[in-house]
Amino acid sequence: MNDTFLKACRGEKTDYTPVWLMRQAGRYLPEYQKVRSKVDFLTLCKTPELAAEVTIQPVEILGVDVAILFSDILIPVEPMGMKLEFSESKGPVLHDPIRSAEAVARLREIRAEADVPFVADAIKLLVSRLKVPLIGFSGAPFTLATYMIEGGSSKNFINTKRMMYAEPELFASLMDKITAAVINYLQAQIDAGVNAIQIFDSWAGVLSPLDFDRFALPYVQKIIAQFKGKVPVIYFAFNGSAMLRRVVNSGADVVGIDWRIDMKEAISALDNKVAAQGNLDPCILFGTRELIKDRVEQILNGAKGAKGHVFNLGHGILPETPVDNAIAMVDAVHALSSRR
Ligand code: CP3
Repeated sequence: MNDTFLKACRGEKTDYTPVWLMRQAGRYLPEYQKVRSKVDFLTLCKTPELAAEVTIQPVEILGVDVAILFSDILIPVEPMGMKLEFSESKGPVLHDPIRSAEAVARLREIRAEADVPFVADAIKLLVSRLKVPLIGFSGAPFTLATYMIEGGSSKNFINTKRMMYAEPELFASLMDKITAAVINYLQAQIDAGVNAIQIFDSWAGVLSPLDFDRFALPYVQKIIAQFKGKVPVIYFAFNGSAMLRRVVNSGADVVGIDWRIDMKEAISALDNKVAAQGNLDPCILFGTRELIKDRVEQILNGAKGAKGHVFNLGHGILPETPVDNAIAMVDAVHALSSRR
């Protein structure tokens, strides 16, 4: 197996900088669209053969150094007892959002192996087919809580913050339940064979640093402590570049960096304690080939002093992205990093 990605996560020397793209399996690929045209998104997530097929697509088409399981952060929320739907216009919808002590009490513990068997089944298929490592993932408790409390995506997160500030004990009991579910869900992925895990905290950036420390970070720390030393753990707090020193305290081996901070400044905030993943603005892939190459080089230079560097976008690739530009980015990372 090509273990360049795993070496970079562990802070070991590599022959070149490994690269992947968040949301690399998705709608920008005609090959994905073809599979997706026959089944809805949740069916795709729940059918191991199809999930494995679309997971492999970007590895073959782009030449990235690692695969990420095709699934969604909201998959474990269904067996907790919420009805999940993906609407073409609104994105994810969770019915009967969690706003009361009774609703929190009703949430069930999950046993991922029995509740979401398709996840382990897809991982086992992938491990037998891939020549690169496989990343498993989950949402972070705070990000999952926002979806469960708001009932979907949100702008100001008023219901979430109302519970945090007005009913902190209720919020804590919800977060404890989500944390237990995440630990069980990630353990099932590790047991099935994933080589690394990423925790997506897509909404951590709506919190002040004080509230991040109080309402989000302790739960992430508890999760990461469970897996420390077993597989590399990547923690990505999107929009969190003003809180990087706190993010480092999560205990993760690798910290995700979005594009709102200069890579060199980010590396200096990481203090040589963890490796970095990032940090190209996904919209750079709408620019010219020269621009893409230039920005790739800037990030590689900025990351020179890093404990380890996994090249990635600063958030998910957008559905409108030209595939050839994504390929050009991957090629540029490989070419420019291997002659250093
Ligand atoms: O990275 C990968 O290739 C693996 C697959 C993956 C998906 N979602 C597939 C997906 C991963 C890692 C996720 C994580 C996820 N899901 C996050 C965290 C990352 C981030 O973007 O911040 C979040 C917040 C979600 C919740 C979610 N799922 C939203 C808000 C949406 C709607 C927005 C959108 O992009 O459509 C989804 C749907 C979703 N998840 C799609 C894919 C490929 C699109 C579904 C389709 O094919 O129509």
